[in-house]
Amino acid sequence: MSHDSVLILDFGSQYTQLIARCVRSLQVYCEIHPYRINLEKIKELQPKALILSGSPFSHYQEGAPQPDPAIWSLGIPILGICYGMQLVADHFGGKIERHDKREYGHAQLEIKTPCRLLEGLSDSEQVWMSHGDSVSVLPEGFVTLASTANAPHAAIAHSTLPVFGLQFHPEVVHTPCGRQILANFALKIAGCKPDWTPESFVQSAIRTIRASVGGQKVILGLSGGVDSSVAAMLLYEAIGDQLIPIFVDNGLLRYHEAERVRESFAAVPGLKINFVDASDLFLQKLAGVADPEAKRRIIGATFIEVFESEARKLSEVGFLAQGTLYPDVIESVSLRGPSATIKSHHNVGGLPEKMKLRLIEPLRELFKDEVREVGRQLGLPATLIGRHPFPGPGLAVRIIGAVDAQKIRCLQLVDEIFISELRKWNLYDKTWQAFAVLLPVQSVGVMGDERTYDNVCALRAVNSLDGMTADWTQLPLDFLKHVSSRIINEVQGINRVVYDISSKPPATIEWE
Ligand code: XMP
Repeated sequence: MSHDSVLILDFGSQYTQLIARCVRSLQVYCEIHPYRINLEKIKELQPKALILSGSPFSHYQEGAPQPDPAIWSLGIPILGICYGMQLVADHFGGKIERHDKREYGHAQLEIKTPCRLLEGLSDSEQVWMSHGDSVSVLPEGFVTLASTANAPHAAIAHSTLPVFGLQFHPEVVHTPCGRQILANFALKIAGCKPDWTPESFVQSAIRTIRASVGGQKVILGLSGGVDSSVAAMLLYEAIGDQLIPIFVDNGLLRYHEAERVRESFAAVPGLKINFVDASDLFLQKLAGVADPEAKRRIIGATFIEVFESEARKLSEVGFLAQGTLYPDVIESVSLRGPSATIKSHHNVGGLPEKMKLRLIEPLRELFKDEVREVGRQLGLPATLIGRHPFPGPGLAVRIIGAVDAQKIRCLQLVDEIFISELRKWNLYDKTWQAFAVLLPVQSVGVMGDERTYDNVCALRAVNSLDGMTADWTQLPLDFLKHVSSRIINEVQGINRVVYDISSKPPATIEWE
């Protein structure tokens, strides 16, 4: 690893990724590893500091996760957050008190002792607490840096060793001074150089790609989304026309999608995209299939079939590139058993072994916001970088029931009106994801003097951080009124528009 780095030991906190994102926003490279990581592996990674995350476990609970005890003798700075702080206190001989009720929410942090960790903070700062246990007796050699009403030892430090503990969460937005604390830790205390930038990432990714690919060809499934587009640009910078992007039109895409992808890459004439129109095949296989999971399976399998047959036409292909991101790579610490699959997502898994291709994943170190930064750095248009997520199975999961060409056409038109109006009203970038759904419901209406019996469509717009939870967006009523009237006037077959006001959970973002 050429950059200075911070290693986070993950004890299963829901906030672990936020710690990493916050440290990386300071331009310090940071990796998350399961708490069980052993000393040899840590030494291999050569971090300049460790952060111990929070955990859903209570310190006294049976099976409470413990790190390799050798971490304490590494000699590098250690910051324990919440549960991580209790590990610090316990290791150095302090006492932890268990509370029956979790303290959850805002607290006022009063600074007692000046320390490099809290430099730049005012005497009283707002912080976010989420804990059941807290340190009741400070271990020997430690001082209390700050307290809150319910946590007398809310921030602690060893008086000679670079070991610190925070009872509150510096990584969440509800702790406005949190970024400063993490900056003090990573930059001042651990002395990391802030050199993890989109430019440096692009430079080192190009070197790595060239070294691993050599003179071979690389195929890539280009979807028009942010991840595969950025991966394509990065690979193109690295290996030029050894990259063969394949865009499969499955007939389930947004209005004029293939043309728009063509336009997005028009500024890169050297990047030759293979456009494959397989819409007939997909629609044929989907005919009469109404079950959501069956539709997903068919689309996944057909995609692989088409992609594979295209790839076979090419010679000397050695690699398959994928836009896998860091959250998919982090080995999740499953302390409470694997979570149930709610919807199966597909990718081109299975293809590499079948075709004896090696996998190349140039974005596997990046979070989504970092991918966007890299995309900007590589000169991709802002409209492409800011695009809402779009599911692999496309409009098939937005047409409830069986899919056919006419319904797709109808939904494309509805969606296009909704999305283009969101852009016109400057609402697109304020929304995390927005789309329309075609319902298999007909209702009575009246147009002119005629009675109609047409379809209902639903509009959905959500705000979210990562798609795991989401709130429905409170779009202005004037806007909804305008969009509804355009849809009903302009799209034949729709005489009623409804707006989805369900949050996730308990609903999901997509309807299928
Ligand atoms: P749900 O509906 O599960 O969606 O709340 C969460 C996010 O995932 C997207 N999504 C999919 N993406 N293949 C994909 O590539 C799928 O089968 C799929 N299903 C949902 C959805 O659009 C949202 O952003």
